[in-house]
Amino acid sequence: MKSSFIFLQIFIHENWIKLGEKLDEIAPFKEDALTFMTNSGTEAVETAIKLARYHTKRTNFIGFTGAFHGRTMGAVTFTASKAKYHGGFYPLMNGVTHAPFPNPYRPVLERRKGEDYGEAVVRYIEDEILHQILPPKDVAGILVETIQGEGGYIVPPDGFYPALRKLCDKHGILMILDEVQCGMGRTGKWWAIEHFGVEPDMITSAKGIASGMPLGACIARKSVMDWEIGTHGNTYGGNPISCAASLATIDLIENGYMQNAAEVGAYAMEALEEMKSRHPSIGDVRGKGLMIGVEFVRDQETKDPAHHLTERVVDLGYERGLLMLSCGKSVIRIAPPLSMSKSEMDEGLRIFEEALTVAEKEGKK
Ligand SMILES: Cc1ncc(COP(=O)(O)O)c(C=O)c1O
Repeated sequence: MKSSFIFLQIFIHENWIKLGEKLDEIAPFKEDALTFMTNSGTEAVETAIKLARYHTKRTNFIGFTGAFHGRTMGAVTFTASKAKYHGGFYPLMNGVTHAPFPNPYRPVLERRKGEDYGEAVVRYIEDEILHQILPPKDVAGILVETIQGEGGYIVPPDGFYPALRKLCDKHGILMILDEVQCGMGRTGKWWAIEHFGVEPDMITSAKGIASGMPLGACIARKSVMDWEIGTHGNTYGGNPISCAASLATIDLIENGYMQNAAEVGAYAMEALEEMKSRHPSIGDVRGKGLMIGVEFVRDQETKDPAHHLTERVVDLGYERGLLMLSCGKSVIRIAPPLSMSKSEMDEGLRIFEEALTVAEKEGKK
């Protein structure tokens, strides 16, 4: 049983201690975890960036195309899902180089024989970035959304994280996972990285951690969170109300919702795969648990993104009482509450298909 966490703010309260202990218990690494509580996801990412620099005494980072990590100056530098998030805000933070996110549906790099596409991306990072642009001894961390959210609900191939872990170990680089969107039971496990059998050095969380109350967390290996008290801090992070909301949320996730996410997610994936066979505009269905992306294309061969159709499906669903949100160029994300029942999912999928059928008949792609 792991036992320790740290107080990095001036005053502490009981629910803060309980939450720190709980996060230590569920953190996706064997080593003890220390947590810094924040007010939001972007602040959790800022914390990770600062801690990585402080701990490694290195300055630079690698991020990924399509990423979304927030909009404060450090986090938004890594964010690379829409150019408008950067436009008007230069100069951004120094020292971030972007690599292509391992998107198996839309690969941009060549794969070698015997290699999966995730391994090909790690080879690119090593051979092209670390060898030709950025010396590894200057790289503090690699920051990546375990499953990419805003960029299109993209699940990396199985080989990606084991290869990335090896690369990080080889060069003393920290592996920092942003699980603000994909963590906290959403994929049917506490953390999405648990699907890949790899332990990160740091993880960021927010969103589902307190059911909508403002709370985020930067959870690090104890040996990594080695800054002195007062080096980093805030006023409201880990406030009593958000910590109470988080403890209640974690209790619900642990006692049924995580299992439900796995079951209802698998059920929905099967239904969507069937739907794909009826609708040529569905190019890809992917996901883990209740984090599912449906990608629309003009043509299954060319995979030309069907942007207008995607937005039309969102609007037609809205008119019928179903809230949907797009991501990437032409993807609809299915990320309902973890409490969703199979019959509620059936109802949602029925409206989704009805909206899609109407949009396809209208012929706008
Ligand atoms: C993966 C990821 N990281 C960070 C953030 C930023 O979180 P917040 O909006 O709480 O600052 C988001 C928000 O959508 C996110 O999806």
